Amino acid sequence: MIKTKIAGIGKYLPSKIVTNAELSKMMDTTDEWIVERTGIHERRHAEKHTETTTTLAAHATKQACERAGISVNDIDFIIFATLSPDYYFPGCGVLLQRELGITNTECGALDIRNQCSGFIYGLSVADQFIKSGMYKNILLVGSEMHSMGLDFTTRGRTVSVIFGDGAGAVILQPTQEDNQGVLTTHLHSDGTHAEELAMINPGSHGGRHLGTEQFGYPDPSVWGEVFVTQKMFDDALFYPNMNGQLVFKTAVTKFPEVIMEALNKTGHTPADIDMLIPHQANLRISQFVQKVLRLPDEKVYNNIQKYGNTTAASIPIALCEAWENGLVKSGDLVCLAAFGSGFTWGSALLRWV
Ligand SMILES: CC(C)(COP(=O)(O)OP(=O)(O)OC[C@H]1O[C@@H](n2cnc3c(N)ncnc32)[C@H](O)[C@@H]1OP(=O)(O)O)[C@@H](O)C(=O)NCCC(=O)NCCS
Repeated sequence: MIKTKIAGIGKYLPSKIVTNAELSKMMDTTDEWIVERTGIHERRHAEKHTETTTTLAAHATKQACERAGISVNDIDFIIFATLSPDYYFPGCGVLLQRELGITNTECGALDIRNQCSGFIYGLSVADQFIKSGMYKNILLVGSEMHSMGLDFTTRGRTVSVIFGDGAGAVILQPTQEDNQGVLTTHLHSDGTHAEELAMINPGSHGGRHLGTEQFGYPDPSVWGEVFVTQKMFDDALFYPNMNGQLVFKTAVTKFPEVIMEALNKTGHTPADIDMLIPHQANLRISQFVQKVLRLPDEKVYNNIQKYGNTTAASIPIALCEAWENGLVKSGDLVCLAAFGSGFTWGSALLRWV
């Protein structure tokens, strides 16, 4: 039976470190507040004049290809997960293809817009393509350049202290070996609270359903008529907004649920997990999940302290770093899990090659 294995993994973090102390010079916040509520000490910000979400992804991809022993021209399908694309359209998949110099037009490019669970969604899609025999070298990349689109004034402090820039990539290949590869993936969504962690402006909603002051469409006569309003500029309503408490409460329920779903499906228990790589949403969320599953510290990998929440990139960056540090080894049962905007959430279980 064909399964999907991670044949190579890479990551890229921009070199510029932004500490909590530096943020506190831009907005009314403190190192203590940020560390206590999120666990984050510092994050990376890309170089605005030379880097984009696509160029970050290109660095991570090259490293993943090198480690998989393939050239970028061997990639036969690109899956690009991000919420901070270079352009509204086209998506980053084709931009990455161009950036890497891939001239093979047989190579398809798919963009995934599932925010924090984008990598898990992408892995599940890739897994189906590999198992069906359609592709042999899929590039799955998660990349974010949040720093370009956050409000670094006190108005945006709840969101802007949490997020950081970075990219992680994997090369996925078929394997027929018994004890390796993706064992199962599980995807979920519930749009009830779509606007509670979102960046909604500008958009085709044109204020129709949401036409309130809060969302930038104070004048009902223009609802459904206009794409951009003056109020959006005046009140900076083109930044992300987040209902932190709702996100927290929902995340701590959904993470354990979806991890247990993957374990149950494959006849495992939490004790069988060798390494849990949770999406790096917030250290307190990861610690809560760890406690519920009764996992010891050495079985949960967290690096949000150094990088902040890098959304679609957080799982491949953490997985890559854990592997580089020798904490993920051949034969290990690795569990990936994510929750985020949408809300969408998911999990994957794999045996490391
Ligand atoms: C965002 C989060 C850290 C906020 O913590 P909280 O305890 O819920 O804090 P609240 O939103 O209730 O705000 C408490 C106070 O801190 C203030 N505050 C918000 N951001 C702040 C910051 N960066 N620095 C200092 N104070 C801040 C608020 O304005 C509020 O002030 P007030 O009491 O005077 O109104 C927390 O809700 C959280 O971790 N949520 C999950 C977020 C997440 O994981 N997102 C990623 C999902 S993938």
